[in-house]
Amino acid sequence: MTADFVLDTSVVRSFVSDVRTAIAAAPSPEAACEAITPRFAELLEDSDWLPLDYRRPAPQSGMGGGIGQWLLYRADDGSLSLFSLVVPPGAQTPIHDHLAWGLVGLYRGTQDEEIYATVGGALELVERRSLAAGDFYALIPPHDDIHRVRTTSSETSVSIHLLTNDTGCVWRHTYEPVSGEVRPFRSGYVNVACDNGPDDLSHAH
Ligand SMILES: [Fe+2]
Repeated sequence: MTADFVLDTSVVRSFVSDVRTAIAAAPSPEAACEAITPRFAELLEDSDWLPLDYRRPAPQSGMGGGIGQWLLYRADDGSLSLFSLVVPPGAQTPIHDHLAWGLVGLYRGTQDEEIYATVGGALELVERRSLAAGDFYALIPPHDDIHRVRTTSSETSVSIHLLTNDTGCVWRHTYEPVSGEVRPFRSGYVNVACDNGPDDLSHAH
């Protein structure tokens, strides 16, 4: 398989290689997440591997609020992506889904997270949790798939996402908190275009 290493370093290559091996050997998403957990925890503890360029907010972001979604790696077949999500102090994402399983963890700063579920067509807040650097969880849809995150630290928060789709480029959804209205949503990446052509990109920003 060919792959696109945007951040092409030995740390990222070794991490992705171990992840791919674990996924190929695992009988289920749950088992894969468990197998990847030690390597993911290592990545969150390592203060050196993520250059400052990938910890910057992005004024023109597809997420709004100056939120930067920086692609670090993706498989050419769209089966895996690794990216950082940079949320300035006080900013929050729209309520959104991911449509793929994987691991999400906080690298810098603190965040409050609200997790939602659709119940009988309506959106319900099911859990609130606070995350500090080093905290992470396995996201396995539909569980935990719909959420909103807000930075609570005075510094910009940086979270690391390892998900089994090309999260920035697939069409997913945002949800209106009060009406529960669902809208098609493609966040894009700040640093890498999606493959579907310039027409589609207009939706991303
Ligand atoms: Fe998210």
